[in-house]
Amino acid sequence: MRKKIKFHIDHLDPLAQGVYKSDGDIFFISKTLPGETGTAIVTDNKKNIHFAYPDNIEVMSPERIFPLCPHYQDCSSCHYMHTSYAQETLFKQKALYKHLQKINCPHHQIFVHHAHDRFHYRNRIQLHYDLAREKLGIISRHMNEIIPIPDCQLVHKDISDKLKALYQMKLSDIVDASKHPPQGHLELALNETGKMFINQPYAYEGFSQVNAQQNHILLDLLSQAATKYVKNNPVILDLFGGNGNLTHHIEASQRHVFDLYKKIPAPKNGQTFYSQDLYAKDAINQLAKICPHPDLIILDPPRSGFKELGLLVKNFKPDMVFYVSCNPATFARDLSSIENYSVLEIHLIDFFPCTYHFETFGILVKQ
Ligand SMILES: C[S@@+](CC[C@H](N)C(=O)[O-])C[C@H]1O[C@@H](n2cnc3c(N)ncnc32)[C@H](O)[C@@H]1O
Repeated sequence: MRKKIKFHIDHLDPLAQGVYKSDGDIFFISKTLPGETGTAIVTDNKKNIHFAYPDNIEVMSPERIFPLCPHYQDCSSCHYMHTSYAQETLFKQKALYKHLQKINCPHHQIFVHHAHDRFHYRNRIQLHYDLAREKLGIISRHMNEIIPIPDCQLVHKDISDKLKALYQMKLSDIVDASKHPPQGHLELALNETGKMFINQPYAYEGFSQVNAQQNHILLDLLSQAATKYVKNNPVILDLFGGNGNLTHHIEASQRHVFDLYKKIPAPKNGQTFYSQDLYAKDAINQLAKICPHPDLIILDPPRSGFKELGLLVKNFKPDMVFYVSCNPATFARDLSSIENYSVLEIHLIDFFPCTYHFETFGILVKQ
């Protein structure tokens, strides 16, 4: 039997959870807002830290709105649909400010770029399946099971029909039990004609940004920053570069793109691609063999960030560093490891409306 508690939300944490403290216990309650009171069901405990979801809101925040998505209450993928987009971006801004306290970045150097579309922006979605139980959908944290999401409001209109169509089919006709394990995942991707991949890694055909519109904003910011701050025709080291998205449009004399490629892509748009595990011990030495004197280092690591950033910058001493990150916590941690560089600008770009995720782009210059 799960425990029920009464709560009063003080503030939201950076992961969009309402925070309630009582007698040394801390409760993180999803899908609540500051000032709200009510009752919640506790789903998880770690010592005096508890996770819960609301089952009754007694005093509602004036900022609460009715969520547009029919799956919102049970789905764990969205976090802010119960409030306006203006509120959501304020919470995101506060989350970024909190992380940036580590590096003393003045607020006037931080710029926010809202999303053009709050809904239907994702060009990819990953769903879990369970053949024996005939389930396909998202794992609901509080229900601890797979819930169907045929009407997901985040997927691009061009794949939402395909998503709905999957739910009209028998799961055994979608996933061939003779080829695939009884439990797994499938990904629906917009690239080309709405491809489906079963039990392949996320972004199987190579990483690409999920929000094309916001990616354009990021690319424009990168070009403007390169024109404004970087010398003409720089040598660029593009780390965690994927398909070369971040550097293909920047004027440069050399663009070296590093990622974990199984097969190294052919050079394109003046970019040369190299396969390198950038978390390997000798990664910095390997980079130095190919590009010892970059003028600009651009990096865009996964959520775990790049702990070796301080060492990398100390070794290469580039004029500028452009750091693109999907995790403000590791972004702030990594920037705090750099010595003798100043932060010129930080941009919050909302790639992931309705969720607590966003991209951060930091521009650093050698002192
Ligand atoms: C956030 S994506 C950025 C990709 C690219 N910059 C873009 O804008 O599309 C992170 C990239 O890091 C790569 N990656 C993950 N682990 C890596 C590792 N150990 N070494 C090198 N690249 C890695 C992934 O393949 C992915 O392409």
